[in-house]
Amino acid sequence: MSSPDLTSILAYHDGTKHHFHRFARSSGYLDWASQPNPFRSFAGAPAIALHPRPDAPPVGGASSPLTAVLVGDVLRHSLGLSAWKQFGRSRWSLRVNPSSGNLHPTEAYVVAGPIAGLSETPAVYHYSPDRHALEQRCVFEPAAWADAACPECHRGPGAVVERVAIWLIALTSIHWREAWKYGERAFRYCQHDLGHAIAAVRIAAGMAGWRAAMLPDWSQRDIAALVGVDRDEDYVEAEREEPGCILAVGHESFVVGRDTLLDAARKGRWTGRASQLSDDHVQWTFIDDIARATQDPGRAIPPNRLPIQITNPKTNPITRLPDYPITRLPDRDLVLRRRSAVALDGRSSIDAVRFFAMLSRTMPDGGPPWDALWWDARIHLALFVHRVDGVAPGLYLLARNPPAIDRLREACGREFQWERASETLPLFALAGGNCRAVAQRVSCDQEIAADGFFSLGMIADFDASLHTFGPTFYRHLFWESGVVGQVLYLEAEAAGSRGTGIGCFYDDPVHDVLGLTGHAFQSLYHFTVGMPVEDTRLTTEPGYPWEVGSQKSEVRSRAPL
Ligand SMILES: Cc1cc2nc3c(=O)[nH]c(=O)nc-3n(C[C@H](O)[C@H](O)[C@H](O)COP(=O)(O)O)c2cc1C
Repeated sequence: MSSPDLTSILAYHDGTKHHFHRFARSSGYLDWASQPNPFRSFAGAPAIALHPRPDAPPVGGASSPLTAVLVGDVLRHSLGLSAWKQFGRSRWSLRVNPSSGNLHPTEAYVVAGPIAGLSETPAVYHYSPDRHALEQRCVFEPAAWADAACPECHRGPGAVVERVAIWLIALTSIHWREAWKYGERAFRYCQHDLGHAIAAVRIAAGMAGWRAAMLPDWSQRDIAALVGVDRDEDYVEAEREEPGCILAVGHESFVVGRDTLLDAARKGRWTGRASQLSDDHVQWTFIDDIARATQDPGRAIPPNRLPIQITNPKTNPITRLPDYPITRLPDRDLVLRRRSAVALDGRSSIDAVRFFAMLSRTMPDGGPPWDALWWDARIHLALFVHRVDGVAPGLYLLARNPPAIDRLREACGREFQWERASETLPLFALAGGNCRAVAQRVSCDQEIAADGFFSLGMIADFDASLHTFGPTFYRHLFWESGVVGQVLYLEAEAAGSRGTGIGCFYDDPVHDVLGLTGHAFQSLYHFTVGMPVEDTRLTTEPGYPWEVGSQKSEVRSRAPL
């Protein structure tokens, strides 16, 4: 690592590690008076309520047309509220996408052409999950949208511009929401959450018969300009949003004319002022430093690397996954049911077939949600197997990108067995034995890491990825770990069990377990799966008032696996 930005990354990454004797720097207490509002709004921006409404027709599983109903369906099943919980006088919402500490730093924006039921002109909208509504931030020139969404289509004067079936979702992060609780480590959590949101959007688009993929050529600066988070005048007192990434939601091969769109948005008519989320703030300059050092200038990716360009729903059906039940795209009920387990029962087990099926779903196979990402897999799984019938307890490694196996083997400084543990997966048994205590210890002593079927550390191919893609890829490594996390959450639900993302772990002690030294590989995120112990003191209501009585019961029958 030589460039100053890469040095800054190491400084931040190492400086925000948790150690046995010292946690990463934070306030050390929660200042409830300055707790950030989890919902941003734009005063003065017209709000448009979205589907699903009780009277709206359901969106089908086959490719649905681009309507307000479709947009509502995708947002509701990716970033909407999944439930309200109550305990005593406290009431809080949960969302389809999880978030560290339930703080939800991720904001979403939609950019689209004219859509019946939304707007007759192209517009930029902010998504308000609390109301399931779009706030219209900007309207801009129809011709610009048509050119941008189909730059090679020639339109003479007076030509009827055919509607181009593509829309964009941009994701941003409000660092303060996470930093309020987690201090300097919060930048990492914001990136994990973005990864979860990317996967949630891709999966929800898939359920409605659409594809979604990140557009890597957009710089953060471009994204900020398109969705207006660089507009100082609209954020006078409000906490700023850090642009993350932008996804195109579409069907077929297309190119988005970035410059045309940006120009139109800059000249568009903007309305609304961002709300302030807290009265007081603590400045965490380490977060500003790492945000600056990892600014994304955008990059050109060869067209054949862009998954969305090879899609044609007629010849390439949306689901290209192997045809066995657990690998199908989940259904809407399942994504609304996803929750984090607060405690696991410490005794249930899962059978080997299910376990291997879950692991196989974390392998990038070109289908959703992996086709939303433009890079090859950089995250591997170090698994602590506790209770899987037919699989010996112990430490295992799943190399999600098999060409990395030799380097992983070389980097793990301990004498491991490296015995192939599956005929179909690049899964290796490293060492046998009960590893519940070590799993719990390295995951900040959290019992959930020991009490499930298995827990794991997501081991990033760190140094080499940063050298290949540059400093900004620090964010992308966390995004990929978040996508893996979202898949595990849904797989856990599909198996009748439950998962929990674990952002609190002792970084270097995890590396010690594997004998990793230096920065070739770094653990970025942990996860656990097992049978949950429900907190029966909590009451649960659906995410939106109009769903009362229509949602299936949250507590499903949980037959032992
Ligand atoms: C990046 C990330 C890190 C998390 N870290 C932990 C953790 O260390 N311990 C824990 O018990 N839960 C952890 N969680 C679970 C969150 O607390 C949970 O997602 C949040 O409370 C929202 O609840 P839900 O997932 O049921 O929607 C984490 C979640 C995410 C997404």
